[in-house]
Amino acid sequence: MGLVEGKCAVVTGAGRGIGRGHSMVLAEEGARVVVNDVDLAEAEGVVKEIEAKGGVAVANGDDIGTRAGCESLVAQCVSEFGRIDAAVNNAGIVRDRSFLKMTDQEFDDVFRIHAKSTFWVSQTAAIAMREQGDGGCIVNTTSGAHMGNFGQTNYGAAKGAIASMTYTWALELARYGIRVNCIAPAGSTRMTAAAKDADGNDIELPFWDPALNTPLVAYMISEEGNWITGQVFATGMERLGVMRQPTFGKTLVREGGWDIESVRRFVKDGLGPELERFGLAKQPYAFYDGLVAPAKK
Ligand SMILES: NC(=O)c1ccc[n+]([C@@H]2O[C@H](COP(=O)([O-])OP(=O)(O)OC[C@H]3O[C@@H](n4cnc5c(N)ncnc54)[C@H](O)[C@@H]3O)[C@@H](O)[C@H]2O)c1
Repeated sequence: MGLVEGKCAVVTGAGRGIGRGHSMVLAEEGARVVVNDVDLAEAEGVVKEIEAKGGVAVANGDDIGTRAGCESLVAQCVSEFGRIDAAVNNAGIVRDRSFLKMTDQEFDDVFRIHAKSTFWVSQTAAIAMREQGDGGCIVNTTSGAHMGNFGQTNYGAAKGAIASMTYTWALELARYGIRVNCIAPAGSTRMTAAAKDADGNDIELPFWDPALNTPLVAYMISEEGNWITGQVFATGMERLGVMRQPTFGKTLVREGGWDIESVRRFVKDGLGPELERFGLAKQPYAFYDGLVAPAKK
């Protein structure tokens, strides 16, 4: 018997890459899967592969960049399989551009396909799960890029929003037995093939099977994983890690509150050594001597 035998799941953006891996592995482990992709032919190809291995899946070509598409996707799972136990929010696009050049369209498209679709699919699925009454699991997809990554204002903002929504929904949905978690995956896909460094050069990366992200996803969806909620995990390649969540760090307290004079006296010595390394690469903090504008050099 598979780890998720009989569970009914939707996976967005599952025609290729990491979502394809999720669909294949979940089906191998006994789930019935709605394989969504706006490129319907790709989704149908994955369904054929699953069926050839004896699994159960149906294709769905809804655009998850609209509320109607997300509702239709969840409705298909319920109408085809009679219920929904898991929603895996995976679909994504990138439209990288440096901050000062990024357009509204680039920002909105990326935010909508990642963050709004995660909101729409999860809300629709959670309402159905609440009606079923026996819990369920939502798995979202963030990225290390939400720590800050050159050229990814839109993508980082969406991935940060997704992590934040994960914590909030875990709080709100625990009473219904619905667990909400998130992965920051890694794998060789169309998306990583488009990755560039800060100078715009292509990045050469070794091949990693994108399906290596799914075993933890399957575990979280399974009954065995019912103790996990509100978490973000780094998955893929050879790693399995917890992603630390934002938290308040060292805090200075001053009776009556902080005025200008006391901030000026205490902030550098008191909090300076605590300043965070920021950005995906987590370089040591490099600005204690101040940032110098070109006109002042
Ligand atoms: N590959 C990595 O190393 C990596 C790292 C961090 C995060 N991620 C995240 O993992 C997820 C999957 O990425 P991937 O690398 O497999 O990319 P991918 O481009 O290979 O696959 C994404 C899929 O989403 C589909 N999609 C896009 N817009 C859609 C829409 N509106 N409706 C339905 N489907 C849509 C695409 O057609 C595509 O098949 C994304 O959320 C991505 O941000 C990937």
